[in-house]
Amino acid sequence: MTTTRKVAVITGAGSGIGKATAHAFLKDGWQVTFVGRRQDALDAALAEAGADAPHGLAVAADVGDPAAVAAVFEKTLARFGRVDALFNNAGQNAPGVPFEDLPWEKWKSVVDTNLNGAFLCAQAAFRIMKNQTPQGGRIINNGSISAHAPRPDSAPYTASKHGISGLTRTISLDGRKYGIACCQVDVGNAMTGLASRMAKGVKQADGTVKAEPMIDVTDVAKSVLFMANQPLDVNIYHLMVMATNMPYAGRG
Ligand SMILES: NC(=O)c1ccc[n+]([C@@H]2O[C@H](COP(=O)([O-])OP(=O)(O)OC[C@H]3O[C@@H](n4cnc5c(N)ncnc54)[C@H](OP(=O)(O)O)[C@@H]3O)[C@@H](O)[C@H]2O)c1
Repeated sequence: MTTTRKVAVITGAGSGIGKATAHAFLKDGWQVTFVGRRQDALDAALAEAGADAPHGLAVAADVGDPAAVAAVFEKTLARFGRVDALFNNAGQNAPGVPFEDLPWEKWKSVVDTNLNGAFLCAQAAFRIMKNQTPQGGRIINNGSISAHAPRPDSAPYTASKHGISGLTRTISLDGRKYGIACCQVDVGNAMTGLASRMAKGVKQADGTVKAEPMIDVTDVAKSVLFMANQPLDVNIYHLMVMATNMPYAGRG
């Protein structure tokens, strides 16, 4: 339990990893802004926090929209006064279609959320962290195993997650002089709406289809909270949390 209530902004907090992490932060004594496009999902996620709900704020925004992102951080400052952590977690996947058939609109939608949205939120948080007293904070980007190796037919998702790795590294360097730490969690197969198809059966690199083992979102949330609770002169630069028996650990 933290002694003073720190402030986190968590995107994609209406479901999956983001919701589990927002609940874990609230339970640990943080104040949390829940962000996502659907206000009803955010309100429901906040209500699920029960006695901790008064320490949360639900703000609907598309992270790919600069004005909406600016409003999220303005509302967070108005309510909580500072930003100690951003969990850049909002993300989308694209249905697996052959590379040559991928519609431009699908590419753009995934990159707009996963990479452009992460940039916009990180920049807004960085500006606040740079200027607040005490100075500094931590930006935790949600990458993926896809930041390291692709699944078949996954160009927009894999490219956006490789972009996240570049964003993590550059913010980590540029944030040093302001006490801003930046790190990345790379998740493999947590059971959410986005990843449930892995449990049903998903195309492997050799073209076969296999059901893969999954882990619970609460185990990912624990890892993110652990990263967030380090002192600012300590950075868990990179953490991979995945299903022990998923194919990534070997060649298929
Ligand atoms: N589950 C896994 O195994 C796994 C593995 C590797 C990486 N990840 C990453 O984990 C993150 C969370 O995914 P998840 O698995 O928890 O799936 P999820 O339950 O589908 O969560 C994604 C969240 O992002 C929000 N979102 C999507 N587009 C948005 C936008 N443009 N603006 C604001 N919010 C947006 C969604 O809410 P709205 O629809 O209301 O906007 C949703 O709450 C993603 O970045 C994903 O790539 C997950």
